[in-house]
Amino acid sequence: MVTFLTPPMQDKLVVETSPGFSLLELMDRYDLPKRCVCGEGKCGACAVKIVPMRRKPKWISIGRLERIQFIRDGKLSKAESEQLMFKDIPPRWRLACQYIVSDEPIMVVF
Ligand code: FES
Repeated sequence: MVTFLTPPMQDKLVVETSPGFSLLELMDRYDLPKRCVCGEGKCGACAVKIVPMRRKPKWISIGRLERIQFIRDGKLSKAESEQLMFKDIPPRWRLACQYIVSDEPIMVVF
């Protein structure tokens, strides 16, 4: 389920989703206003805020290769790398053309 919220709309729009579509395709389907230039993740014009609607964050683990890469890139501290599980919280800003909708309930603010 995806909830869209944007000032030009009179009310929020809540839609059931079919996983596998991009957010931009979903916005097209419901004829929502959007800023889109390239459709390929290059221009940044389609950036939207994603707010998870789940009450409790899902816990995930990341693999050894990801840990090594993130430590090497400074994205994960040594202490963090020793955690077995992490809260799976999506970054606040996402590109609508690159965000693939799942069965995860979210609110999209733009
Ligand atoms: S439309 Fe250009 S980054 Fe999404």
